[in-house]
Amino acid sequence: MAKVVPSILSADFARLAEEIGKVERGGASMLHLDVMDGHFVPNLTIGPPVVQSIRKITSSVLDVHLMIEDPDTYAALFIEAGADQVIVHQEAATHLDRTIRHIQSKGAAAGVAINPATPVSALEDVLYLVDYILVMSVNPGFGGQEFIPNALAKIRRLDRIRRENHYNFRIEIDGGVSLENAAEIVRAGCDWLVAGSHIFHSADPAATVKELQHVAEGATAVRV
Ligand code: DX5
Ligand code: ZN
Repeated sequence: MAKVVPSILSADFARLAEEIGKVERGGASMLHLDVMDGHFVPNLTIGPPVVQSIRKITSSVLDVHLMIEDPDTYAALFIEAGADQVIVHQEAATHLDRTIRHIQSKGAAAGVAINPATPVSALEDVLYLVDYILVMSVNPGFGGQEFIPNALAKIRRLDRIRRENHYNFRIEIDGGVSLENAAEIVRAGCDWLVAGSHIFHSADPAATVKELQHVAEGATAVRV
């Protein structure tokens, strides 16, 4: 069943516990935390101390998206801070195979993200190993950007490879997800839909999570 994953990037950081409470009341059980270093992407956000504080106030699954240079070195710090799942970018990891195994050996799930300009073929030799793939549907760095539709073709392709090879990885999408495109994304074969501004900039974030979840559950993957 497809799952909506709120990204706290668009939440009010001065009221983070309250904001997390809202989306959890709406039914969210996984939270997406965006880590940016001002090098891999032109923006700066949070580091391990904030993840550690969030860990203390929620039992939701913490899905930590590392948009940083050298994720090979830093991934472990985020697991120690309380991340359940860690995503590294294919474009940033020098030793991707080793980093995936390292994350898994620390007891966390390992995800690999690809930017809009990176083809699915760049993932060929890790698909048998990873726990999930994050298809970026915006160029990473900021919330509130417009959805880039080539993500849908990539999801369809990943879903097909998954079925043909009996792989178990999940497929996640991140960027520009809204009530308008959620059904189409699920129909393409996506399992986890990250949404930031659409949820936190809405008048009632709990209701928006519920609505998105309802649309996601109503749509079924169309196998091609
Ligand atoms: C962007 C981040 C996203 C961001 C998505 O680089 O990785 O997680 O929060 O925001 P929206 O849903 O507003 O596009
Ligand atoms: Zn993200």
